[in-house]
Amino acid sequence: MNRKIKLLLKIFVGFLIIITCCVILGGWYLNSNLLSFESRNTNILHKEIETNGYTFLDRNGNGKLDPYEDQRNTIQDRAEDILSKMTLDEKIHLLKGSGMGSAIGAYSDGIPGAVGTIVSTPRLGLPEIYLSDGPAGLRIMSKRDDEDKRYYSTAFPIGTLLASTWNTELVKNVGVSIGSEAKSYGIDVVLGPGVNLHRHPLCGRNFEYYSEDPFLTGHIGSAMINGIESNGIGASPKHFAVNNQETSRNWNDAIVSERALRELYLKSFEIIVKESQPWAIMTSYNKINGTYAAENKRLLTNVLRKEWSFEGLVMTDWYGGRNSTNIIKSGNDLIEPGTKNDWDDLKESAIDRSLPILDIDTSVKRILKLVLKSKKMQNYNFDNNPKLKEHALVARKAGSEGIILLKNKNTLPINNINNIALIGSASYEFITGGTGSGDVDEAYSVSLDEALKNNGYKLNKVAFEEYLKQNLKTTQNKEEEEEDPGPIDFLMRMVNPPKPLDINYSPELINKTSETADIAIITIGRNSGETADRKVKDDFLLSKSEIEMIENTCKIYHSKGKKVIVVLNIGGVIETKSWKNLPDAILLAWQGGQEAGNSVVDIITGKINPSGKLPMTFPNDINDHKSSLNFPMGGEQMSINDIIYGIKKKEKAEDEKIKNKDYTLYEEGIYVGYRHFDKDTLDVSYPFGYGLSYTKFELNDLKATRGKNIINIEIKVSNIGTTPGKEVIQVYSSKPDSDVDRPIKELRAFIKTSLLNPGESTRLKMQIPQSELSYWSEDESQWVLENGTYSFYLGNSSRTLPLNIDVEIK
Ligand code: BGC
Repeated sequence: MNRKIKLLLKIFVGFLIIITCCVILGGWYLNSNLLSFESRNTNILHKEIETNGYTFLDRNGNGKLDPYEDQRNTIQDRAEDILSKMTLDEKIHLLKGSGMGSAIGAYSDGIPGAVGTIVSTPRLGLPEIYLSDGPAGLRIMSKRDDEDKRYYSTAFPIGTLLASTWNTELVKNVGVSIGSEAKSYGIDVVLGPGVNLHRHPLCGRNFEYYSEDPFLTGHIGSAMINGIESNGIGASPKHFAVNNQETSRNWNDAIVSERALRELYLKSFEIIVKESQPWAIMTSYNKINGTYAAENKRLLTNVLRKEWSFEGLVMTDWYGGRNSTNIIKSGNDLIEPGTKNDWDDLKESAIDRSLPILDIDTSVKRILKLVLKSKKMQNYNFDNNPKLKEHALVARKAGSEGIILLKNKNTLPINNINNIALIGSASYEFITGGTGSGDVDEAYSVSLDEALKNNGYKLNKVAFEEYLKQNLKTTQNKEEEEEDPGPIDFLMRMVNPPKPLDINYSPELINKTSETADIAIITIGRNSGETADRKVKDDFLLSKSEIEMIENTCKIYHSKGKKVIVVLNIGGVIETKSWKNLPDAILLAWQGGQEAGNSVVDIITGKINPSGKLPMTFPNDINDHKSSLNFPMGGEQMSINDIIYGIKKKEKAEDEKIKNKDYTLYEEGIYVGYRHFDKDTLDVSYPFGYGLSYTKFELNDLKATRGKNIINIEIKVSNIGTTPGKEVIQVYSSKPDSDVDRPIKELRAFIKTSLLNPGESTRLKMQIPQSELSYWSEDESQWVLENGTYSFYLGNSSRTLPLNIDVEIK
């Protein structure tokens, strides 16, 4: 062999050896630090013992009844007893989870997809607890190694759709279903709901969140938590707090005034703590005014616990916060999912006392209380058999009640229609929900085309074939189910949410569809998820081909006296002003979970009368939002490296920090959403609270009386149309002669009627605590209630408020 070749061979072999070593070392590091650094012992057997007529589980096997084994004692006393029996090592062990091993299905006895754990304490017989996302249904993996059985969960509608129902009973019911699936699968804490505000329409995770208004968010969030927890399962609302962008989310510093914090960003959490006292709360990744939320003592101890009396545990977001010791010292009790480094750091700082034992004990006690409340601790026999059929009906009902009718020119419900031209890829690939931790591994999903077919409608062949052709699909592979997403697919879907392909329809093709179709339905689809915000071009704004699709379809169908409906299958706000005059009806369907198609068809056919109302404003222009001046508008995707290691990134020098990435100035203060549009008297495309119905309602007989520290409001609502329907009554307060700068009006109460028949009336009562009319005074560092006249405006949207009444506060 000639020398050169030998040398090349040697280099090649050397290279191979280096790569192999790197892979082995990398794998070893990943495994030993992030995935599987625990020697898990979950096989804890307890004997039942009887003493003085009381049967108990002898958890520590000492043959006698310890106070913590005695369920007749209070949770507090039992936790104290366990704490007194624990070694320092056992306590430290409990302060962090067991890594991501469980999430990726590395434990043969685990729950694949359950992203976190509270570790077991075998010596005392304390079980391992599983934590699992999420906001739109339980996110566990349906597939388990060597098993044919599938572990599906129900995909419910996204948070934004649920908030659009303005129906707390219904949202509670969704929570009851999510909690009961968790209970069936052995999950003790559901990581949700997401209750951050829609500060800006382009936040990639807005679909998981509820609204631009903290009052609506807080009450819908409470309803969800109460539902989940009615099963004896914990909920963990997230992300506390000010997690309003995904760009650089792991280190972004939200610079925000105390007033905006109190009146907006903390307000929804405050309502939730006071109304629901959830088992847990998850902190956010970002910093707030220079300090990581996960290490923010003022927020977690002073505000959350001392001011609001929160009793549950606080956990980090996944790998959130930087310094394990500071995390625990700040009042953040549980580091999730935990790493070997966290564990080592905590041990070290416990030994050198930089982490005081008092802080350790406080956090351990909070974790123990949750463990003691858990179903696992009660040896609950979970059956892995959730009521999926029943829950699908709950999802379908919730889905249709959150759909918002934006426009209707004598078109809906459809009548005398046989052949429907479905235009746009999303019509055939309806999006059920966003990606990331708000995703669900459901058994099936019903697209709009399937739902229409199932209801006896004929789908226009020309339109369908064009969809197949341009998407390079066949009838058969359209039907094929998506393969189970593994952890890698999951990450890829998160950084690149699957979106329906744009189709270029020629006018000739549209014309051909109109020869046989009675009506056209165009679906506009959007998808987003964790780790990226949305962008303006081709996302907030419709793409060129979408605009052409709407223009051409409307022109051609209208020339033949046929109608066009646009269905918005989106997770966040899009531009509507420039094209909304074209179609005859616009239906904001959001992303309705696995039954999304059926929910839309229920509305289109009139089986259900729409009653959803916007939980945010649809602006005329994205730049009308004051926060657009300080938001990462480019929709830049975080790199995989930043997603995985970004949290531990070296701090940049102040002068190197980039605006809207490393820090974001919340210069708009309290002027978010309708508070801003009202203050600056800006026209909007569709206002906060807006939504049409197939019937008409009349409001009258408004009364307001003052009780002790409370304002009682009463109103009569009548259905004066010809179709049964529900209406949402919204109450806004205003303080016209205020001494301080205040929003023109703020939502203070809302209520949804039951189904009212034509001619039927109902009297509705609402109560507003006087203290809720306060503003946060920065000078006095407290809530201040001004005396004088308050005006209350009532109606069915923030800009349709026909009735008002004044109340004096002295
Ligand atoms: C998300 C959380 C989620 C966690 C676990 C994080 O990336 O921000 O909302 O609960 O992952 O999946």
